[in-house]
Order: sequence, then C-alpha cells, then structure tokens
Amino acid sequence: MLASASRRRLCAIVIGAGGALLPGWLAAATDPPIPAIVGHDGRFALMVDGAPFLMLGAQANNSSNYPAMLPRVWPALEQLGANTLEMPVAWEQIEAKEGEFDFSWVDTLISGAHAHDLRLVLLWFGTWKNNGPNYAPAWVKLDNARFPRVINAKGEIKNSLTPLAPATLAADRKAFARLMRHLKETDGARTVIMVQVENETGTYGAVRDHSPLAEEAFAALVPERLLKALHKQPGSWRQLFGDDADEYFHAWFVARFVDQVAAAGKAEYPLAMYVNAALREPLKAQDPYTYSSGGPTWNVLDIWKTAAPSIDVIGPDIYTYDYDTFLAHLAHYVRADNAVFVPETGNDPRYARYFFSVLGRHAIGFSPFGLDFTGYANYPLGATKVDSRVIDLFAANYHLLGSMTREWARLAYESEVWGSAEPDDRHAQTLDLGRWTATVRYGKWQFGASDWAWIKDRPIGPDGPDGGVLIARLGKDEFLIMGRNARVEFSPGAGRTAHGVLFDRVEEGHYAGGQWVFERVWNGDQTDYGLNFTSVPQVLRVRIATY
Ligand code: DGJ
Repeated sequence: MLASASRRRLCAIVIGAGGALLPGWLAAATDPPIPAIVGHDGRFALMVDGAPFLMLGAQANNSSNYPAMLPRVWPALEQLGANTLEMPVAWEQIEAKEGEFDFSWVDTLISGAHAHDLRLVLLWFGTWKNNGPNYAPAWVKLDNARFPRVINAKGEIKNSLTPLAPATLAADRKAFARLMRHLKETDGARTVIMVQVENETGTYGAVRDHSPLAEEAFAALVPERLLKALHKQPGSWRQLFGDDADEYFHAWFVARFVDQVAAAGKAEYPLAMYVNAALREPLKAQDPYTYSSGGPTWNVLDIWKTAAPSIDVIGPDIYTYDYDTFLAHLAHYVRADNAVFVPETGNDPRYARYFFSVLGRHAIGFSPFGLDFTGYANYPLGATKVDSRVIDLFAANYHLLGSMTREWARLAYESEVWGSAEPDDRHAQTLDLGRWTATVRYGKWQFGASDWAWIKDRPIGPDGPDGGVLIARLGKDEFLIMGRNARVEFSPGAGRTAHGVLFDRVEEGHYAGGQWVFERVWNGDQTDYGLNFTSVPQVLRVRIATY
C-alpha cells in the first residue's frame, strides 16, 4: 500500500528544537519530498515519496472531524482497503478565538492516520463549505459588517460570504497559512499528501454579489489576465459576456479569492492543492440560480484555470449514478490542463463501478463520500445505510489494485490506460487500444461464446450493475488487464486485417514489492471465451497475437 518501511523508520522518537521529545510522525532529517502534482503531455501524477501514487480514498462524513469519532472512521477505511482518508479541518476548529490557534485536532488526526498506515487529504472548510460559512468561527460567521454576505439581484442577503471583501480574504488566508505552517513543522513523514482549499465554493440563490462593492467591480473592465486567456479585447463584464456576465464575474472573484488563500498556504508549505466542484447539468443549459454559481462548474473552468494558478487540480464531486450522466460530468474535467481526480462520489453501491471509468482516464485518485461508521447515510445522494455490505462493494475494487497501486499510478503517468464501467443497460463497449480493439461485455458466464443466444439466464451483481475493466499498456502487444464481472475479447485494431487473433500468453499473477509474481497461465476454457472476470480479484498480463 504505502512505502511502509520508510514511514515506519520515521516513526522513531525524534528530538525537536530545544531538546523536546516529539512524536514519531514529526519532521526527521531525511524527510521525503513534499507531495506534488506533476504533469506532461496531458498526463499527471500525484508524487508521494518521490513516485506516482494512486489515491484509493474515502471521505469521512462532514461532522466526523473530532477525535471522538475517529474510532468509527478507521475500521471503515481498513475494511475498504483505502490508502487515503479525506477529512475536514474546519476553520472554527483551529481559530475559535481570533488570532489564537489550536492544532490539536490536526495533530490527533495525523498521528491516528499514521498509526493506521493511511495518508490524509485535509479539507479546508473555511469561507465556503457548500456555499456558506457554517464552518467558519463564530467571530466570522456572525459578523456581517466585517465579513459581508452576498446580496442577490432581488436585494436578498444570502448565507454565502462575498468573495470581494478584503477582510474575509485576509482572515481566511491568515488561518490557512497557519495551518500549512503547522503541517510543515510537524508532518515531515508527509502523512498529509494534499489539501482541498474550501469546499464546493460558489453561491446558491444568487448568480453574483450585488452589494455596492460588487457593483463597482462589475462596472469596471474585465481584468487583463482574463482578457488575454480568452483572447478578448478590453470591455466590461456585460459587454464581453452578455447574459453570462454575472456568473463569469462571480466565478472570477471566487477563484481569485481561493487562489490567494492557496498561495498564502503554499508560501508556508507548497503541498499539492485542489478544489472540488458542485456540478451543474453536464449536457444542457441550467439556470445558475439552481446550482452553486461561481464555483468551478464546467462552463467556467477556463476562468478558474486563469484565476487560480495556485490550484493544481479541479475535481468534480459526482453524485449522479446514471451511467451517461456520470460520464458526461467526468468528461468535462478531463482536460490537458487538469489531472483527473474525483474527490467525492456517492457511496450507493451503484457508484462502485465508476472506479473503473475514473481510473481508466489516467486519474490520480477516486474517493467515495461518507464511508465511515458514524451512523450517517446521505441518501438519496448515497446509500440508505452505510454498513459493511456497502463498504465491501467498494472494497472489492480497491483490493483488485491493492498491492499494485504504485505500478498502476506509474503506468497511468507514463503509459496508456483504459477503463470502462458496466452501463445501466449492460451494453457492450469497445476500447481502442491502437493495434487492438478490446470489446468488454457484461452479464456473461465464464464459459460460452458471446453469441450463444440459447443461454438465457445472466449473472448480475447483487446490487445492480457493478462490473468493470482496467487495461494498461505494458508493451506493443502486451497489456495488464483486470476487472470485475466482465468479459474482455480482442480483435485487430481499426485498419488492421488478420485472419484470426489468439492469446500468445495470459499470465495470472500479482505485484509484490514492485515485481510481477507469476501464479499460472490461463489457457483452454479460461481463454476460449475471452478473459472472464468474476467478483474474485484477478490480475492478468496478456500478450496478443494474430495467425
Ligand atoms: C458534497 C459536499 O462537498 C460534502 O461535504 C457533503 O455535504 C456531500 N455533498 C453530501 O452529503
């Protein structure tokens, strides 16, 4: 899972400045490199301990961010086989009184994660937690004069702080920078690998702020940097963007605010940072009053990318289990300038299969929301009940990759990977592997040709469609293939002709310590009807040929 040996080495008691004994997870002389996102040619890697890392994550429930809850969080992560926990750190937890900082929660969380051999992604619940400042300290969220809220076009005050108030930005930056400084001083083992800056930013019930401060900014010229990025001539927001002007304006200022918070944090400790997005309709127009206007929705990603260069990744929170809609949401965030990362998705069993779609798009991580045993279930966005049965469905996919997350992350960064999830209607899919086409079918028994129509009964996962396949290129005609409740067959790639296709060799095995460990060769019934994956985790190295 993790580079456990080197992490354990850092676990020894170390002597801090002034001779004080410090817990083992604090900084040591041989600290690993700071986790970072690197990219080339539209491929990305989250580098942890100097090598690509695949985040198999889970996000805890919102109010699980207290020490008393952790005993109900760790067992869920362990059962899941996750390597990373996403957990909130609320502004109210570290600066309940202005200027007085308390990082005891952060310290408890980091030492607990370290003890459970987990990495952490901290979620900074600051000025915005889904539109509102509810996780900001009382001295912020109750002082509307000093930290003003958005006023919508009808003159209503909304429970969302305006991104235009300098006092809000200064206070948030200061607190976030202190948090990052604390991580720098105490987390030499790099237990924390990324930080999410704010949570699902934007405003519900207003497209932008209409306070006098905002009206003045709205009447001014669009900032030079945005003009350049969008190849526009100077003009006001309304002149250049017409009906979209209000949303674009809000997106620019929310993103600028977030960027300045992130930059202040990175100046202390330049850890990888991302934002998550509450989504809008992926395929049709939607009134911005009905979603989180100003957040990084797909229609304003160019604005966010220009306004927030300190943010390494923009990740969609996907809570739609319909197959076409899930993929349409995801497609908006697969861009040459953005690593694929799904920081939140539903924990209903129907979401488990999207692990394959996300990882097959070179993702750096995947993380269902609300997977802990604190007793909360966010149905209808997620499961009606979060229990061991639900966790097992997600765990099955994590265990498939469990011993080889590092290998997969390296292949996703350096080679080609593909993935597909079982569609709602179970239709067959084709994956273009260049010299080969892979056809993925669902609802097939392990035995029997795909066109044997007389086999009427079909296997199906216990909770609906749950199949999927992952493929990575190892060589010209060689692939690493794994899956769940799916069949993979090969034919020559587009434009190639061949009399027939055969498997030169199909090896089942696993990775241990970075090396492929051979277990057996598949042949006969095991390959005559394609490569058939069941719910048993199996990993294959496959060489294909023609005759
Ligand atoms: C998305 C948010 O980002 C999470 O914090 C949480 O509120 C979920 N929605 C739903 O429970």
